[in-house]
Amino acid sequence: AVGAGGLTAAAGCIGGGGGDDGETITIGSDIPYAPFEYRNEAGDLIGFDVEIAEAVFGEQLDLNYEFQETSFDGIIASLNNANFRVIMSAMTINESRAERVDFSDPYFTAYQTVLVLEDSDITSREDLRGESVGVQRGTTGEAAAEDLQEEFDGELQIESYDQINGAFDALLNNQVSAVINDNTVSASFAAENDGVVFLEGDGVAADRDDAPPYLTLTIEEYGIAFRQDDDDFRGEVNDALQAIRDDGTYEEIYSEYFDG
Ligand code: ARG
Repeated sequence: AVGAGGLTAAAGCIGGGGGDDGETITIGSDIPYAPFEYRNEAGDLIGFDVEIAEAVFGEQLDLNYEFQETSFDGIIASLNNANFRVIMSAMTINESRAERVDFSDPYFTAYQTVLVLEDSDITSREDLRGESVGVQRGTTGEAAAEDLQEEFDGELQIESYDQINGAFDALLNNQVSAVINDNTVSASFAAENDGVVFLEGDGVAADRDDAPPYLTLTIEEYGIAFRQDDDDFRGEVNDALQAIRDDGTYEEIYSEYFDG
């Protein structure tokens, strides 16, 4: 078996662990996307998805597994080309994707939110008209930006980057005025960078108890994606997801990354 958290010999494959016999389940993921999948200073792959994968594939299903780094744009095509068995990449469940993959039951709620620089003069959603926003290519953040662009009759410039860090860097360097991205990922970036703040305002999630206290453009749920001929395995994974909720493992991992 591949040691948990260790490096495997195969290029591009990281982490993994689990049982001793049978095939190795490969998990396609775009890295870094902290706090879901990223490396610590020692270079180990860590994150919420990484620990949920260990609990589900390693502990519950007793499988060998490893993460395989891949670009997010095209990740579904890559799954369907059998480059890996599943996608676990903070991926939002939506209808257009569900035409090409099957999703597990939801395992995390997220919201599209807007980051700006504290000293900018953008203080409301309407202030984004005529501005530029950075997004990660192929994401629901990009789709939310396109919806906003339509709402502004085209008066929004969208800059798409292969990885979210490209959009974050562009914000810090004043190459874009805002970044539209998943709330917890943007929150961890804002926490590490002075002067980066969420755009405030009443959003689509404003009346939800658990909504973040700033502008929300969408409400989304993450799922693990499978090829459409992989129903038995998808069922086993759903059972395992339920089991880690029932035995407290999910809550333990959740509070490690999100409560405090
Ligand atoms: N939740 C968003 C989506 O599904 C962004 C996911 C990006 N994930 C990543 N690992 N880079 O489009």
